[in-house]
Amino acid sequence: MIIVTGGAGFIGTNFILHWLEQQGESVVNLDKLTYAGNPDNLHQLAEAGGYELVVGDIGDQALVSALLQKYQPRAVVNFAAESHVDRSIYGPDAFVQTNVVGTCSLLQSVSQYWGELAEKEKADFRFLHVSTDEVYGSLSMDSAPFTEAHPFAPNSPYAASKASSDNFVRAWHHTYGLPVLTTNCSNNYGPYQFPEKLIPLIIQNALQGLPLPIYGDGKNVRDWLYVSDHCDAIATVLDQGSIGEVYNVGGWNEMTNLEIVDAVCGLLDEMRPDKKGPYNRLIEFVSDRPGHDFRYAIDAHKIKDQLNWVPKETFETGIRKTVVWYLENMKWVEQVSGGEHEAWVSKNYEGRK
Ligand code: NAD
Ligand code: TYD
Repeated sequence: MIIVTGGAGFIGTNFILHWLEQQGESVVNLDKLTYAGNPDNLHQLAEAGGYELVVGDIGDQALVSALLQKYQPRAVVNFAAESHVDRSIYGPDAFVQTNVVGTCSLLQSVSQYWGELAEKEKADFRFLHVSTDEVYGSLSMDSAPFTEAHPFAPNSPYAASKASSDNFVRAWHHTYGLPVLTTNCSNNYGPYQFPEKLIPLIIQNALQGLPLPIYGDGKNVRDWLYVSDHCDAIATVLDQGSIGEVYNVGGWNEMTNLEIVDAVCGLLDEMRPDKKGPYNRLIEFVSDRPGHDFRYAIDAHKIKDQLNWVPKETFETGIRKTVVWYLENMKWVEQVSGGEHEAWVSKNYEGRK
């Protein structure tokens, strides 16, 4: 079996669904259930067997050690993190606590467990750390995409905390020999993404006739990958990746924020037309995110050449599936958009010009 951390969040939920469908190997999900974690995402799996949720913190060494002893996993996949850049600007402490201190503590618990395994289990064990392209900093329009050799230059508290966690994972391999793997992926989109992130936020605001807030001039560029492709890449790296190596994961799909918002509006015009006119009439340019990185782009040749992984979805197929999912799961959005999310929306958007 494997232990997944942060599996009640966006990518972790998709990963567990994907994993059980493709591999059928049992999963225990250790999740603190912060505002971003929703246990109901995987509720139906618990009834079917092969899946269990344990509510707890990756930084709780007594709990994590007990779980490792009890379940004897062959791998730990670490998704648990505070993940929203804007929130990290208002409150960096939680990012340091979970992403840095929590990851470090998890590494200590896992190392101790790994050190006591029998030779074969020890050789087969893997710790896979899920990270982001934001650790590499920002690119100009004419720079080459990030390779795994690109120096770290994080610009937001979120990116700095993830870069720090990546460094600790690296150190645990070099110093203690822990068999680690790290993936650095670009922006994901798809089902179960919390509505604070760009694509689900735009879908929800459009359906409610609210302004579609675009930071700055909307020309910032991100590489976008459909979440099931990311999950597939993680499973591939876990299975075939070389110990101690880092793999960049991306969709070869760079788009400006304005292009993203226009694409989402176009699909909503087609699937849920509004009598008042096209949804992009609601676009509002608002004051920029402080320190807003201009461009992220991923060179995903290493994972393609060495592990034969390429994305299956194009942006057109992935975004269509995403919009359909949100239209069919408006109850899910309502459920996760309670008081905490409303308070966040007021805090982040009301003061913006
Ligand atoms: P998310 O915010 O949707 O989910 C995070 C999950 O972690 C939640 O279920 C939360 O309850 C849990 N969690 C938070 N702190 C915890 C703690 N101390 N102990 C245990 N659980 C805790 O995030 P996501 O978008 O699913 O991202 C998952 C991982 O992938 C993160 O490490 C993130 O940095 C990385 N990543 C995300 C993206 C993206 O586009 N979303 C891209 C690349 C990498
Ligand atoms: P986001 O989904 O927060 O991901 P990240 O900051 O990790 O890339 O934002 C994606 C892009 O969209 C980013 O350039 C910021 C921008 N953005 C807006 O323009 N308006 C918004 O309301 C949000 C949430 C993001």
